[in-house]
Amino acid sequence: MAYDQTMEIPASPENSPGSSVDVSRLPLPPGSSGLPLLGETLAFIRDSGKFLEERRRLHGDVFRSHVLGEPIVFLVGPEANRWIFAGENKYLRNRWHLSARKLLGKQSVAMINGSAHLDRRRLLAPHFTYATMRHFVPRIEALVHQHLEQWFSAKQPFKAVDAVRALVFEVAIVLLVGESRVDAAYMSRLFKRWVAGLFSAVPVDIPFTTFGRGVAAEKEMREYLTPLVAEREKLAEQPPDTLGSLLSARDEQGQPLPRDTVLDELQLLLFAGHDTTVTATSNLMMMLAQHPEVLERCRREQQELAEKGPLTLESLRAMPYLHQVIQEVMRVIPPVAGAFRVTTEDVAYGGYRIPKGWQISLSIRGTHRGAPWTSPERFDPDRMGSERNEQKSQGAYIPFGGGPRVCVGQHFAMVEMAVVAALLLRGYQWELVPGQDLSLIPFPIPLPCDGLLVRFSRR
Ligand code: HEM
Repeated sequence: MAYDQTMEIPASPENSPGSSVDVSRLPLPPGSSGLPLLGETLAFIRDSGKFLEERRRLHGDVFRSHVLGEPIVFLVGPEANRWIFAGENKYLRNRWHLSARKLLGKQSVAMINGSAHLDRRRLLAPHFTYATMRHFVPRIEALVHQHLEQWFSAKQPFKAVDAVRALVFEVAIVLLVGESRVDAAYMSRLFKRWVAGLFSAVPVDIPFTTFGRGVAAEKEMREYLTPLVAEREKLAEQPPDTLGSLLSARDEQGQPLPRDTVLDELQLLLFAGHDTTVTATSNLMMMLAQHPEVLERCRREQQELAEKGPLTLESLRAMPYLHQVIQEVMRVIPPVAGAFRVTTEDVAYGGYRIPKGWQISLSIRGTHRGAPWTSPERFDPDRMGSERNEQKSQGAYIPFGGGPRVCVGQHFAMVEMAVVAALLLRGYQWELVPGQDLSLIPFPIPLPCDGLLVRFSRR
């Protein structure tokens, strides 16, 4: 089943051309600016989920606050999401938090805006379509087999999150730079330090701080990747991987992308696709173990498949229930809780004025826990099936975001997760070690606190 979150979002009436709303007369959204300077930052960082739910109960789906040094308006729900997606490059611009702004390459797709962003998306799009994933299925399958056998040979309980992390990293390297001589273990260590820096609350570059170590790791990663890119630049024909497409791209004057831009993009893609896929895959394993009736239905689906040989896009498509389960896991625990934008003019939303330069928070987690979802706290994969189809309202189901910034790697992630899950279901079983803390880390990524300790065996 191909999963596709559309980029086309209808505009909202309040901001459509010719709207008669006089923005300057509208009140600010309800809420509090908190303490001088600090605002409500501490409560937000401590537990952003609780922060959102408490204020939502008090003020509804539109409220203001002051976090991370800036005024912000939180918007929750499908309608708000449609307004945010429609506003990109009109009344809104993308905005990353300060650490990410300092550590992600300035020329990567996530950092650029306007027509440069659209051009880059056009360049990347052909390499991330559902159909393109066909080449990767056998390569992903081979890597997953290899890793699952290593898990099995451990013979004693291990942290599934760490094991999934190693697997996802190696798969990402293959997609990005091919079966090259990249030392995945070395890169993975650097990557971990870099990502920790990306989420650090205090982005001051002092050695031995999380941010300082992140800066050093980013530099080392770049030094490692630079000769690899330089060598690939010399090839007359590029292999079919993302680096190949970045190096083959030409602008209107026939010029290639500068090497620094290629490096920015490679690092960004590695970052954007890693912890997200690790979180969804680990939480899928956890939820299957916690819901034996769902696990049983998934196993039955695998047994009943007509095609039992190597996996293909067609055989993956013939697993609708598994896809419903993956989708429901990402509804209950979205790997990305939300994203930020900034207003580029005074705007009206929901009868309120949002001044120019304020941050806007897109809330994926909040959206997945409100209307139109029935009993949203229940893990219920049937809600994703064609009969109930609860996700049909546009903007209600947004694990991959939406609009012009919808996730570039959504098909890659869905295919990879389906391959991992199918091979797990066919050949292995796993139990959660009792007594561990399965509650989710509140920030930055919702993974089980103890790393998901599992006992793993063959079926
Ligand atoms: C389960 C896995 C994944 C989830 C849940 C996820 C989620 C998201 C979300 C919510 C956004 C939108 C952020 C925003 O609106 O600012 C996004 C953007 C992005 N994702 Fe993913 N992602 C996943 C996997 C991947 C993979 C595997 C790749 C690449 C190989 C990738 C590459 C990107 C890129 C480059 C962007 C930025 C797009 C832009 O700014 O135009 N993601 N992702």
